[in-house]
Amino acid sequence: MQAKIERLAVLGAGKMGVTLLSALSASGVVDPKNIVATARHESRRASVGAKYGVATSRDNRQAVESADVVLLCVKPQTAGQVVEEVREHLSPQQVLLSIVAGLTTEQIEEHLGDREVPVVRAMPNTPSRIGQGMTAVCGGRYANENHLELGRAIFSQIGRSLILEERYFDAVTGLSASGPAFLYIVIEALAEGGVKMGLPRQVATELAAQTCLGAGHMVLETGDHPALLKDEVTTPAGCTMDGILALETGGLRVTLINAVVQAGRRAAGLVDE
Ligand SMILES: NC(=O)c1ccc[n+]([C@@H]2O[C@H](COP(=O)([O-])OP(=O)(O)OC[C@H]3O[C@@H](n4cnc5c(N)ncnc54)[C@H](OP(=O)(O)O)[C@@H]3O)[C@@H](O)[C@H]2O)c1
Repeated sequence: MQAKIERLAVLGAGKMGVTLLSALSASGVVDPKNIVATARHESRRASVGAKYGVATSRDNRQAVESADVVLLCVKPQTAGQVVEEVREHLSPQQVLLSIVAGLTTEQIEEHLGDREVPVVRAMPNTPSRIGQGMTAVCGGRYANENHLELGRAIFSQIGRSLILEERYFDAVTGLSASGPAFLYIVIEALAEGGVKMGLPRQVATELAAQTCLGAGHMVLETGDHPALLKDEVTTPAGCTMDGILALETGGLRVTLINAVVQAGRRAAGLVDE
């Protein structure tokens, strides 16, 4: 589906708000003249308006009034208050699309009170900021397939996106939202191995990062199981097999499984402070 937005309101023109508005206007999904972005500080509004050619405001209510899509991009601690502030100005013909981490569609609907507004929740990750994100999208009680598809299409402008039931969102948090941090450590560690073997650090880091990128693309583009791709690199009695042996001895596989599970359990509130 090619998304088309007539008028877009971005509540919270911070890092993610700006990532989305710039990608959506660059791809022609919405004309920058039809975007209103809000922020708390005048300096922020001025810089966003000047850089992206969008209207800016401090007034969230006014911003949502004529918008068909409203993107909620403020911090989690501010989100409930902002939804309550704008709810009288929202209607069932609009879509409220939230990227606020940890805020469920049910919680958003509670803040909306009796307004039967379609809510779409998205969980992007930080590589979205360079167009390489992974986003999962789910819908609230008034969201239909078209709303979900619109959400998916919006996030496909900043990487890959898929529609998923909300009950999986804690797992998504543990995997694709926390995952970049795990992989930065993997990249750093691979590079350290290269440095130990005498490579200059910058070269080692480039080799490690591009190797992770290439391996990810191989999995996505061939559709082959990662184990099959690993077997292709592993010559009998060769050097890769020695490396795999060291890796299994060190417990990398089980460590990564535990990392995803722990982060996901934390997102679900199953781990104490
Ligand atoms: N960063 C990521 O990669 C990422 C990934 C997944 C989800 N998220 C979610 O995305 C949301 C935004 O994160 P971020 O990193 O973009 O944060 P951010 O850069 O701090 O942006 C938040 C923006 O909200 C504005 N704001 C604060 N109070 C407001 C209000 N009452 N009305 C309107 N705007 C207001 C701020 O304005 P000022 O600039 O003037 O203070 C700021 O521009 C968070 O809920 C986070 O959980 C982020």
